Amino acid sequence: MSHSAGEVETGVPEAVSSVRAELHAPVIRARSLAKVYGDDPATVVRALDGVSLDIAHGEHVAIMGASGSGKSTMMNILGLLDVPTSGRYELNGFNVSAMDDAQLTVARNRLIGFVFQSFNLIRRTSALANVELPLAYAGVRPRERRERALAALAQVGVADRAKHLPNELSGGQQQRVAVARALAGEPALILADEPTGNLDSTSTADVLDLLDAVHDAGRTIVVITHEDEVAERASRVIRMRDGKIIEDVRLEEAPPTREAWTPTTSAGGGAATGSTAGTSL
Ligand SMILES: Nc1ncnc2c1ncn2[C@@H]1O[C@H](COP(=O)(O)OP(=O)(O)O)[C@@H](O)[C@H]1O
Ligand SMILES: [Mg+2]
Repeated sequence: MSHSAGEVETGVPEAVSSVRAELHAPVIRARSLAKVYGDDPATVVRALDGVSLDIAHGEHVAIMGASGSGKSTMMNILGLLDVPTSGRYELNGFNVSAMDDAQLTVARNRLIGFVFQSFNLIRRTSALANVELPLAYAGVRPRERRERALAALAQVGVADRAKHLPNELSGGQQQRVAVARALAGEPALILADEPTGNLDSTSTADVLDLLDAVHDAGRTIVVITHEDEVAERASRVIRMRDGKIIEDVRLEEAPPTREAWTPTTSAGGGAATGSTAGTSL
């Protein structure tokens, strides 16, 4: 072959696809994860206290629990934003427990798409540029970056807002852009932290429908939430208390879809380029 098979077949540059190997490993495999604050036995806090958890490809999992139960700690560790005090964590087959900070940053960029309560879009930067940014970090070339970002914006229904700044968009639209940003890099895992916490009820339903569609397309989603409305969309609900998993219930049989996310172009999508699906390299 004269050039990279990875690029021809999937549109994903080798730099990205190389960290997405291990197709048969679960997305998340955690064993006895603990996060302990302080070393005085009288005041020590076990924010995570021996969590073991497997999440397979294509699952849609909600993590619930009262304030202080360890949800954020769990999210930060699963998202490679923090490291556990002890225990083992494998993400998509990679033993991230053994990675140094630089490797963790690379793995985070390439394996995880984040959706935050407060959207976390970069101000004074267009929707399109916001979606392109993680692709730039992942080493995707400019032309493909633009195509994939436009396709992701079209997929979430805001292609016509590509040139708008975050403050020119409604909360629901901003969260759609954030979901597009999370999707564009084709991550192994979408990690959402209270994704509807700042939205009104209409936008909440919108964004939940969108996450459902993302899940139906075969993506793995873990959503941290205290809202029943959000958890009801999941196929599995995990409840935490005092840093432990106290309940883990499957609501329905989630078929292990392994299709790739296939971006589509929107009809009146306005900004530039024709074919985006599959990326034409
Ligand atoms: N940096 C920290 N130092 C000390 N205790 C912490 C720290 N971060 C979290 N905790 C404690 O760990 C426990 C779990 O916190 P957290 O994961 O934020 O819970 P949740 O997100 O479910 O509200 C709480 O008791 C909290 O006070
Ligand atoms: Mg929290």
